Amino acid sequence: MAGRLKKQAKDAVKIIGCGSALFLGYLTASGDERFYANVLMPVLQRIVGAETAHFLSVRFIGLGLVPCNRYKDPTSLEVNVFGKRFQNPVGLAAGFDKHGEAVDGLYKVGFGFVEVGTVTPKPQDGNPKPRVFRLVSDQAVINRYGFNSCGFPEVYKRLKARQLTQSALTAGKPLGINLGKNKISTQAVSDYVEGVRTLGPLADYLVINVSSPNTPGLRDLQGKEELRHLLDKVLKERDSLPSKNRPPVLLKIAPDLTAQDKKDIAEVIMEVGVDGLIVSNTTVSRPETLKDPKKHEIGGLSGQPVKEMSTRAVRDMYCLTKGKIPIVGVGGVASGQDALDKIRAGASLVQLYTSLVYQGPPVVVKIKRELDDLLKEQGFACVSEAVGADHRPIETTTHTPAQEKETHSD
Ligand code: FNR
Repeated sequence: MAGRLKKQAKDAVKIIGCGSALFLGYLTASGDERFYANVLMPVLQRIVGAETAHFLSVRFIGLGLVPCNRYKDPTSLEVNVFGKRFQNPVGLAAGFDKHGEAVDGLYKVGFGFVEVGTVTPKPQDGNPKPRVFRLVSDQAVINRYGFNSCGFPEVYKRLKARQLTQSALTAGKPLGINLGKNKISTQAVSDYVEGVRTLGPLADYLVINVSSPNTPGLRDLQGKEELRHLLDKVLKERDSLPSKNRPPVLLKIAPDLTAQDKKDIAEVIMEVGVDGLIVSNTTVSRPETLKDPKKHEIGGLSGQPVKEMSTRAVRDMYCLTKGKIPIVGVGGVASGQDALDKIRAGASLVQLYTSLVYQGPPVVVKIKRELDDLLKEQGFACVSEAVGADHRPIETTTHTPAQEKETHSD
């Protein structure tokens, strides 16, 4: 009798175990948003360190092992900027897929565009480990990767191998390539120019990244004269590419700029004809609100604590450029409301990285769904109508100057 009871108990445990495993497997595969944000990601974070988790995520996504995504982007989320169509405005920020290894998996997750990089001309290891830290209580990350990169030739080879796949995606899901310089290079301008020449033909847009805090001297390139010289050379190189391979050039800036810095940058980009801005990179500041003991680690801070700072920078740059230069808003986007805040401040598109760390791939569909609902609630027929809405005294549904320009050039 006792033996029979023991066997029945064992069988029951097995059934419950299998049932739970199946159920967890189902929640993982189906991309259940709450399960990822509240159970799976926190558990995984306890098991693996931040850089290992990053490495494994890129591998898994690169193999196409992503949660099922049945969400169909509504037409309200479509955006046309830089002469490109974006099926939805939620993109992956630079730094996640540094070497272009997971682009197709990332589109499967639901991103409207993917930015590869930062890529440097020659391969370099970056800073010693540990160099990336999760500040869980602040929903933030500090990183000092220092542009670990496999270099232009390897990324070129990888992206060239999927060029046909990308051509089919490009109408709707553009690919960005973010360019940097080698740490030991003394010729910053030629590093970026080489990037334009080598990787430009494979990009739907290029990013000149002069705002990462972990490469000594890099952010000085945001200074007026240096920036003018750099952008002038970069744009000349871009203009010398064959016309079908001439991508728009965007500048990515820091959130820590002074009012004068922002004014100077606006003046230079309007003068030289940069196509767009990415606002912003990580911050070197440490807001007083930070609670996590890792807050003193050196590096760039991202996630929730940078959200307001970067939205303010979007607002400032939209004003300074009179809404004529399309802006990609990035920094702490983790919900549809965050995305809309950036759009209303002047962003035509948004990007994210840190919310992917905390909420996993389902965050992308969550943001798109919430954004679509909020647009409807606030009476906007589409994203374009909401761009820069905060700058208009009375809510209108007219196009922004950037969108007008786009419409006219189509
Ligand atoms: C980044 N970011 C970044 N940006 C860039 O231009 N080149 C890069 O190589 C990297 N690398 C990188 C690594 C890690 C671990 C993080 C968290 C971030 C900055 C990123 O693209 C983005 O601008 C900021 O992180 C702000 O957005 P989120 O993360 O708050 O959504």
